[in-house]
Amino acid sequence: MSITADSIRSALRSVLDPATGQGIVASGQLADISVGTDGAVTLRIDLISPGFPRRDELEQSVRDALAALAPPSLELQWGLRVPHKPARQDLNRLPTVKNVIAVAAGKGGVGKSTVSVNVALALHQLGARVGILDADIYGPSVPKMLGTPERPAGTAEGGGGIAPALYRGIAVMSVDYFVEPGAAVIWRGPMIHKLLTQFLEAVRWGELDYLIVDLPPGTGDAQLSLAQLIPLTGSIIVTTPQEVALIDVRKAVNMFGKLEVPVLGVAENMSHYRCPACGHRDEIFGAGGGKRLAEEIGVELLAQIPIEPAIAFGGEAGVPVVESNPQSPHAQAFFTLAAEAALRTSQRSATGPKRSSLLRTVD
Ligand SMILES: Nc1ncnc2c1ncn2[C@@H]1O[C@H](COP(=O)(O)OP(=O)(O)OP(=O)(O)O)[C@@H](O)[C@H]1O
Ligand SMILES: [Mg+2]
Repeated sequence: MSITADSIRSALRSVLDPATGQGIVASGQLADISVGTDGAVTLRIDLISPGFPRRDELEQSVRDALAALAPPSLELQWGLRVPHKPARQDLNRLPTVKNVIAVAAGKGGVGKSTVSVNVALALHQLGARVGILDADIYGPSVPKMLGTPERPAGTAEGGGGIAPALYRGIAVMSVDYFVEPGAAVIWRGPMIHKLLTQFLEAVRWGELDYLIVDLPPGTGDAQLSLAQLIPLTGSIIVTTPQEVALIDVRKAVNMFGKLEVPVLGVAENMSHYRCPACGHRDEIFGAGGGKRLAEEIGVELLAQIPIEPAIAFGGEAGVPVVESNPQSPHAQAFFTLAAEAALRTSQRSATGPKRSSLLRTVD
């Protein structure tokens, strides 16, 4: 029996994407089939998230399903098509952005901005279209961390919209571009509201799979009103292992709960130190904080990022470690975080219940 595109399609009808449980034929993820004259098969399958952590599993199911057809060779090519769940009507401010992910923490200094820039760069390197919005009105630091301190040239306010800065293909917008250096700005509610609304409505973000938002630390009114303005798809909560004040983090989770924004998981930063000389792992700040926190709020620990001087230097120098040394173990931790967060985002978009039933109440 000769192999045809139809016979392949029907053999693959039973193959499910392990992350969504949906058939790859029915969902359209099986994007292309080509059969050579000698029967050699090449397939293109679209994955739902960059760095898809369950790709090997999916590949095995595809190979098993086609074993009976015994093609002389089988090549799989992987594409990326991130699913999109439209935001609530009233929040449909970013029609060209598929997912908006907030990076948040109960308190300052835990590494939110470091996580934001490295996750954004990791998603970009994994093939996604990415932007980053620095909404930290108290201490905007993304432009410094990315070495893009200048307000982008050619910024056209008004009809043409505002052009974002660009860092290696990533669109960057920051509160910092609109504040005089060193000026002690007291941001009042209406000012924050106006600026953020402009960022959302007037910035030419272009087509993005992910917009990463670095939120200001804390869970006060300012954070709440910011999070209300931005049509968030999900949030990553950053903590350190010694974080004992769970109460702050619970407040952050509660804030997202009120807004019906799912918490995608916890990132434990400054998790451990690995001695570069002997490889010894030292939990200098204590152990287990991220895991305990994740259990406490009913989500998963997505990644543990080691404490590593190169991470801090990268932020200072304007070239984050994911860019300067992507193969290093500390950069790889950011890739893991990015892939795990993206996977959960896509799972929710592809299969999740309506946003209102994702409401999580934590007292
Ligand atoms: N894993 C890490 N290893 C070493 N240094 C780190 C790590 N993560 C962050 N840092 C450093 O810790 C400091 C605080 O990080 P960052 O500015 O990202 O925190 P933040 O939560 O955004 O702070 P803020 O609340 O002030 O906005 C920075 O100097 C950063 O370079
Ligand atoms: Mg910060």
